[in-house]
Amino acid sequence: MIVYFNGSYQPKDAVRVSPDDRGFLLGDGAYEVGRTYGGRFYALDRHLDRLAYSLRELRISGVELEVVRGVFQELPRRNDLATRDALVYLQVTRGAAARTHGFPAPAVPPTLYAYAAPIVPRVDPSAGVSVITLPDRRWARCDIKTISLVANCLANQEAQEAGAFEALLVRDGVVLEGSHTSLFAVFGGEIRTAPLTNYILPGITRGALLEICRAAGIPAVERPIQLEQLRQADEVFLAGTTIEALAVVRLDGQPVAGGKPGPLTRRLRELFLRQT
Ligand code: PDD
Repeated sequence: MIVYFNGSYQPKDAVRVSPDDRGFLLGDGAYEVGRTYGGRFYALDRHLDRLAYSLRELRISGVELEVVRGVFQELPRRNDLATRDALVYLQVTRGAAARTHGFPAPAVPPTLYAYAAPIVPRVDPSAGVSVITLPDRRWARCDIKTISLVANCLANQEAQEAGAFEALLVRDGVVLEGSHTSLFAVFGGEIRTAPLTNYILPGITRGALLEICRAAGIPAVERPIQLEQLRQADEVFLAGTTIEALAVVRLDGQPVAGGKPGPLTRRLRELFLRQT
């Protein structure tokens, strides 16, 4: 496996990360997950824009976005994935320096690490998935794609231990998103997803699905979804880079949409795949 690390492509085994790296010690960094379809990177500019936003909000400087663009495009090629569906992961940390809470002074260069891997589907979209709901225990800047993901990991693990694919996170009675996915629901033919606030990640797939709805004349709104409303939804689905639009068929053990992927979820999934 050939990865990218601090300016060069190298075998993964050759990478040496400093134990002083602030990603390792403090979770002090940002990441992006993008993908290719048959070798073509999907929504590259949107991923670059979101990374730029995360880095700006975390006050991490020294990353050239054009370098990142090149890495996103080059890594699949270097790993025999040029014609396949591949995931590309990239993370930036504030760099390696003696551990302090304040930023290193003088500043150190950020650490960049990226890899590509084949996408291996873990779920069957035609069957749909189960989800559970949990209190949202993340911090108040979920709009930043930070590598500090321990609350997300705990929630997702709890879901898996309950035999579910995802944990939907609830804050003040509002269901915001999953531990690693965006959330949509259908009420009387209208698609709904949480508005963009500091409490959700601006998902690339979420944005694309909303645009698809607009173009296809499918009513769609960005409005908070109460947990009690979600339990009454006609359809529920998750969205994300590797799952696209994925039907939820069980919510906290109760069937959703008769326990089968609903018609609007299936239609949107199809429309999404058509534009990849
Ligand atoms: N997760 N919400 C959260 C909290 C996420 O972590 C993700 C992505 C999404 C969906 O965003 P997008 O459509 O841009 O993939 C929503 C990535 C894939 C991950 O952590 O692996």
